[in-house]
Amino acid sequence: MATKAIISDIHGNLEALEAVLREIRHQGIDEIWCLGDIVGYGPDPVACADLVKKNCSVTLMGNHDWAVLNSPVGFNTLATAMVYKTKEWMRVTDKSTEEDKARWNFLSQLPLSAEMDGTLMVHASPRAELSEYILPSDVSHDPEKFSEIFSMIDRFCLVGHTHWPCCISDELELTLIRSDDCTVDLGEQKKIINVGSVGQPRDGDNRACFATLNDEVIQYSRVPYDYRRTMEKISKLGDEYQMLGYRLGLGR
Ligand SMILES: [Fe+2]
Repeated sequence: MATKAIISDIHGNLEALEAVLREIRHQGIDEIWCLGDIVGYGPDPVACADLVKKNCSVTLMGNHDWAVLNSPVGFNTLATAMVYKTKEWMRVTDKSTEEDKARWNFLSQLPLSAEMDGTLMVHASPRAELSEYILPSDVSHDPEKFSEIFSMIDRFCLVGHTHWPCCISDELELTLIRSDDCTVDLGEQKKIINVGSVGQPRDGDNRACFATLNDEVIQYSRVPYDYRRTMEKISKLGDEYQMLGYRLGLGR
């Protein structure tokens, strides 16, 4: 299998997405798969959707994408507010151009899962594609959940959703991604591979995260980007959104 780049959880952060696409190009990778949550939280959902549409050969629906198309369910106050704001920016009206309509259509037709080269892809989890969190701590706190999840996986399952890059094997070995250019040997076991978040990392590292996959290894990259620029754009939306910018600086 030729090396693929996998991105997820962009969340309307154009500066992070542009930096990641530059790095993917720099690494000489042509094919990109996106695991969803293109929009929500960030100030540039339109530009991010256009870039994903143009650059990714597979794109899945994330829970924030679904919420913008439908309505937010189980979201916190700020996430809910940004869903409505994003809906306002993206939804089709009498004034929409053909490009606007095509973008909305693209978003609304995203699949919940895909399989490429024997690798399953979902935004969150194979048994609840938009909603279930598979957290690193589940390995010790909720190990029972993995038997059903792994029964749905042939070999690898690529996920996003938690914004925590990690690999979990079917023997419940957990690999947390803590260093730059971290490489994980894929071995013989089944694996759930969380590729981390491009636009809102939550593992304490504020650099954008993505992964590349080939037959033998998954390699994680962290990419610095101008998060202050994204923060500035968020601050212009109003005081109530400041926290969304602040957390980009913290990577939390
Ligand atoms: Fe997300």
